[in-house]
Amino acid sequence: MALVTSKELFRKAQEGGYAIGAFNVNNMEIIQGIVDAAKEENSALILQVSAGARKYANSIYLKKLVEAAIEDSGLDIVLHLDHGEDLDIVKKCIDDGFTSVMIDASHHSFEENIRITKEVVDYAHARGVVVEAELGRLAGVEDAISVSKEDATYTDPDQAVEFVERTGIDSLAIAIGTSHGAYKFKGEPKLDFERLEIIGKKMPSTPLVLHGASTVLPEFVALCNKYGGNIPGAQGVPEDMLRRAASMNVAKINIDTDLRLAMTAAIRQFLAENPSEFDPRKYLGPARSAIKEMVRHKIKNVLGSSGSNLR
Ligand code: G3H
Ligand code: 13P
Ligand code: ZN
Repeated sequence: MALVTSKELFRKAQEGGYAIGAFNVNNMEIIQGIVDAAKEENSALILQVSAGARKYANSIYLKKLVEAAIEDSGLDIVLHLDHGEDLDIVKKCIDDGFTSVMIDASHHSFEENIRITKEVVDYAHARGVVVEAELGRLAGVEDAISVSKEDATYTDPDQAVEFVERTGIDSLAIAIGTSHGAYKFKGEPKLDFERLEIIGKKMPSTPLVLHGASTVLPEFVALCNKYGGNIPGAQGVPEDMLRRAASMNVAKINIDTDLRLAMTAAIRQFLAENPSEFDPRKYLGPARSAIKEMVRHKIKNVLGSSGSNLR
């Protein structure tokens, strides 16, 4: 049991036609719920920390909680920086013990994205840390950056080959129609599988990453709304599409919004049904269980990663 990199995990995932879940973590209950699920499914696991999470919890708290989870569960876990914005934050996370980092310079020009990413790869690889970078732009909101549907651009397959060759990254996040948050599609959900297939054929040994891959399950939106929420028109990526992507060259699938919905639905329901209760453990306990059930469902029915723990 240890903090590990994703290198071997991705190789096995590509061979086996499944993907590894990368779940965003912000506090103890979220970490415990995810790790309990991965343990029950004996699944490989990536826990990822965003800029928002660092601001909320301070990454040292999250790192220590993940270490505790490893000790408690006996699982190997990848600790990943999600959407690292520059070399400074990447350096800090690597120095703090993260085993995987994402540099997201996808909003820069192609050449600038390559320059920044290459700098990160040089720093990370010298310290045994793996690097994910992004080419193409997803629509949606993450932290302070909001990308409209019009400004989103799909990943160009030939550019992707050049990008991977010139930067030496370990995995590539691609844009094929997913987007961050709970409002992914206005009409029919659609992913560009043709593009995914072409990219996969052009670089079969590069693990691909899907961001913005929550399904936004209607029953959880309905539960939130039943107990006082107001989340109209939410729509995510259908699970069969994610399953199909996982059976292709996608080795890592990022999920955050579905955990937020599961947690919030559980808390809303508990407080609505127990209006005189005010002990946080009483509502955070069910929230943690809801996260666990959501992650088990993803591992078993969407990612296909049950049994992928390498130990
Ligand atoms: O990609 C974005 C993730 O959902 C993290 O969101 O920056 O609000 O923590 P956050
Ligand atoms: P969702 O908002 O679809 O859960 O995506 C999360 C993500 O991509 C984190 O990097
Ligand atoms: Zn993302």
